Amino acid sequence: MTRLSAALGDVLEIAIGTMSAWELAAAPILLAGLVLAGVWAARRDFRSYVQLLRRGFAGALLLVGSGAVVVGWFVCFDTATITGTETTPAAQTSWILSMALFSAGVSLLSGVAAYALGGWLSGAVNNDGRYNLIIAIDGPAASGKGTLAKRIAAHFGYAWLDTGLLYRAVARDVLATGGRLDDVEAATRAARAIDAASLADPALRGPRAGDAASIVAKIPEVRAALLAYQRAFARQPGGAVLDGRDIGTVVCPDADVKIFVTASDEARARRRFLEHQSRGENISYEELLADIRTRDARDQSRAIAPLEAAGDALYLDTTNLDADEAFEAAMEMIAKRTKCRET
Ligand code: DC
Repeated sequence: MTRLSAALGDVLEIAIGTMSAWELAAAPILLAGLVLAGVWAARRDFRSYVQLLRRGFAGALLLVGSGAVVVGWFVCFDTATITGTETTPAAQTSWILSMALFSAGVSLLSGVAAYALGGWLSGAVNNDGRYNLIIAIDGPAASGKGTLAKRIAAHFGYAWLDTGLLYRAVARDVLATGGRLDDVEAATRAARAIDAASLADPALRGPRAGDAASIVAKIPEVRAALLAYQRAFARQPGGAVLDGRDIGTVVCPDADVKIFVTASDEARARRRFLEHQSRGENISYEELLADIRTRDARDQSRAIAPLEAAGDALYLDTTNLDADEAFEAAMEMIAKRTKCRET
């Protein structure tokens, strides 16, 4: 072993002695570049970043492992070739190749470590050392998904997007310019020009805006125009909760947790009725029940991205649950789903 370290020491001394300042600086510059690449990649698309990191790590381990086996063989059985005292050209070549394999593995491992450091620095990993999640909450109107999504987001400190507001805003903007809700061109133009800051508009609340939204939501071009915004929102490094109709199926099919919230038609209409009453608005229970049924039928039957649960979604029926009970049940589902992942 001492002979091996002496031989390695000699090799390093010769290599470093013959390098220019630029060549010596190349490795730290490359590693710094990989740290920056890690920060950028983790912020841009966290899932793809993790995938690449895993592949790089597996490749580096393979190289280091196989290099270590052959280097180990020389150390145990052929130290004469290492020190060059008694060897053949074939043995010398094999020794050089073994060292090259091992060194390539170590270099790749250092690169992967730098890339991983970048991901950690990007803020995509939270204080507990866990990756931030994408949580998809889908369900029909007034199922309680919005209240639930907002609360889950607040609990984890994640960003929250009520995607229904996007469709409501498109409908509002089409109507504001005197257009018709089924005018594909006008609706697509409005979807492309959507301004996230305008989603706080109180006029977007209420059954009429919801009904109008469900008409523009049938237009494939409108859905396509809103997709990139929703996906970028979901992939932000701080973690995100999105609620809507197609989050688990279309917007984020790779979400870490998918919950499909349901409740009976009557329970949903009753909730909406109480909400309107508390705001002093005079809309009858029957009108709200009819609106909910019409909207469900339209959302479920449309050709593109209909309201449906993803195959891997967990069902949460809130008919007999209050907001606290629904939240507790959802938190159990999140714990169950994330326990079997390295989040
Ligand atoms: O969730 P909400 O009631 O605000 O949604 C209003 C309408 O928008 C809903 O009836 C269908 C449509 N929508 C959609 O098609 N896809 C989504 N992800 C969210 C809402």
